Amino acid sequence: MVAIYPGSFDPITNGHLDLIDRGSKLFHKLVVAILRNETKQPLFTVEERMEMLREVVSVYPNVEVDCFDGLLVDYASARQATVLLRGIRAISDYVEELQMALMNRRLNPAIETIFMMSGEAYSFISSRLVKEIISLGGNIAGLVPSPVEARLRDRILNSKQ
Ligand code: PNS
Repeated sequence: MVAIYPGSFDPITNGHLDLIDRGSKLFHKLVVAILRNETKQPLFTVEERMEMLREVVSVYPNVEVDCFDGLLVDYASARQATVLLRGIRAISDYVEELQMALMNRRLNPAIETIFMMSGEAYSFISSRLVKEIISLGGNIAGLVPSPVEARLRDRILNSKQ
């Protein structure tokens, strides 16, 4: 069974990594897929995000990193995936996730969305908050993988020069 774990991953957090770790044990293959045609202005390019992801998932032989354009269900079909994996941190995530899952099912009923609850140690982490905290001089140790922390620090410091 092939599963797609889609998202922006700008940048990957320890919450994402926890889901990848657990998801890698459930599926034969897990493809972490970054959306290319993002409307939000990202901090890192898709290539930079892929590089960071590849660095931290290299320990999982059945995890692949990729990017996609267009509809997620079309990408999943093209990759012969039958599952979309998404994480839910709190009830506030559920509302939007339910809408996306039902819409994706309408677009392609052969693809099932599977939700995993965030690990309790990570349920308050988001890429948006991590970026805000580091840009305001706060401590993000333990929130993102260490290579990502270093790159975030570089990017934020350079953008302030
Ligand atoms: O990490 P995010 O930003 O919550 O991820 C959102 C993502 C990439 C999963 C979602 O925006 C998506 O699937 N976009 C692809 C376009 C698409 O298929 N839209 C219809 C979804 S119902």
